[in-house]
Amino acid sequence: MKRLPFEWLEEIIRLSMERIVVVDRDGIIAYIDDAYCDFLGTSMDKAIGLPVQEVIENTRMHIVLETGQREIENLQPINGSVMIANRYPIIIDGELVGALGTVMFPDPDNLRLYKNKMNKLMEELNFYKNKSVNELKSKYTFNDLVGKSAEFTTVKILGERVAGSDSSILITGESGTGKELFAHAIHHSSLRSEYPFVPINCASIPESLFESELFGYADGAFTGAKKGGKEGLLKVANQGTVFLDEIGELSLTSQSKLLRVLQENEIQPVGGQKTEAVNLRIIAATNRNLAKMVKEGTFRQDLFYRLNVINIELPPLRKRKEDIEAISRSLLLKLERKFYRNGTDLTPEVIKALEAHNWPGNVRELENVLERAINVLDGNRIELIHLPLYITDKEVKPQNTSYSGNEVTVNLSSSHFRPLKETIEEVEKKAIIQAMELTSGNKLEAAKLLGIGKTSFYDKCRYYGIK
Ligand SMILES: Nc1ncnc2c1ncn2[C@@H]1O[C@H](COP(=O)(O)OP(=O)(O)OP(=O)(O)O)[C@@H](O)[C@H]1O
Ligand SMILES: [Mg+2]
Repeated sequence: MKRLPFEWLEEIIRLSMERIVVVDRDGIIAYIDDAYCDFLGTSMDKAIGLPVQEVIENTRMHIVLETGQREIENLQPINGSVMIANRYPIIIDGELVGALGTVMFPDPDNLRLYKNKMNKLMEELNFYKNKSVNELKSKYTFNDLVGKSAEFTTVKILGERVAGSDSSILITGESGTGKELFAHAIHHSSLRSEYPFVPINCASIPESLFESELFGYADGAFTGAKKGGKEGLLKVANQGTVFLDEIGELSLTSQSKLLRVLQENEIQPVGGQKTEAVNLRIIAATNRNLAKMVKEGTFRQDLFYRLNVINIELPPLRKRKEDIEAISRSLLLKLERKFYRNGTDLTPEVIKALEAHNWPGNVRELENVLERAINVLDGNRIELIHLPLYITDKEVKPQNTSYSGNEVTVNLSSSHFRPLKETIEEVEKKAIIQAMELTSGNKLEAAKLLGIGKTSFYDKCRYYGIK
């Protein structure tokens, strides 16, 4: 057999993803590849012939020479990066003659590439993990929408009136105002109520899955595709209602794909030849200002017009303070079921405090406050001490915690001490709300502002009920 020339071997090593060092029986470097030397800030000329410990940080090659045992997938910090290191004893004719060490990702660009790839896969995985098995039925009716204020009654009547038509509806309103609840109620009162109600959260579908999720795919459309293909959500919703939640988070590319479906009333599965007709009623929701996004060029005007045939604007909780008591009581009933309690009441002072707060997170924030209260309750009455400080202690609040850039200053007098976790969470929540306000509800931008990843941002929003 013809042997490979040495230059070939060197080139093969250079092309491989792993960097390589070979030491002799005494731990002296016999070979180290060029790229590894580059990364270590040395050269082959200098490194070869030196004891390995003098050239590579945190090396364990000398230990492998002592034990004769291989070490696989060890994490090794070198030059501020953490490498995945493998170390093998080299045994020739039954004798230990040296050791081979390999490390992965010596090149920061490679590392970044892998990280991005992994992030994308993790995002897709999380999406599937979180995707709840929807019963495809509306869960709420107009009777579940609590509130008798003039503001709320007006939109409720509008909702009931337009439910019967087939026109597209755009529900707008701040976060936590009940947009999703409203969409359910509309479907429930519509002629389509016997057909599926399919909620699609546009913010949580990774761009790469948008088409296959909505339109489905044909058999063998791509590697990893399920045999026999898969039905898209829009097909599942046929004859029923599609609820496009957080529509403002859709990328321009996905917007165009969606618009095509709404114009043609047909879908084409990924990799499929034929189009399929669908009959859908669209309800979309967002807490962002789509008209403004159209002006800024981040939302397609034609799609906006298609969706905004009827606009229902849900009022923020602070504009319907007279509903706060009734909503609180209805939320309490719901929470009691969750925590196996009953007979929970609110003191008049608590109701007053709740009415005085301005609720940037609206009904969802109120729900969180009540859930927290139920959790710290001894008896059956929710009193002021069971509410978070930021609701009861209006004057103290502004000086209490301040947030500017990366610095958080917390000045608490002794009477205001409470578990550190709570304080940190409050500041964190506030920072998220501020970032959302600054970016007009754009979660991707807000996550960027806070310097955290999209997934972690969504987790935090879910945790704090900001969503
Ligand atoms: N009128 C109401 N009566 C009773 N509960 C309500 C009402 N409006 C909202 N809620 C409750 O408040 C919470 C938030 O409602 P929902 O999820 O519909 O808000 P949203 O407007 O979709 O928020 P986001 O923009 O953050 O998605 C839910 O738990 C819902 O049950
Ligand atoms: Mg919602």
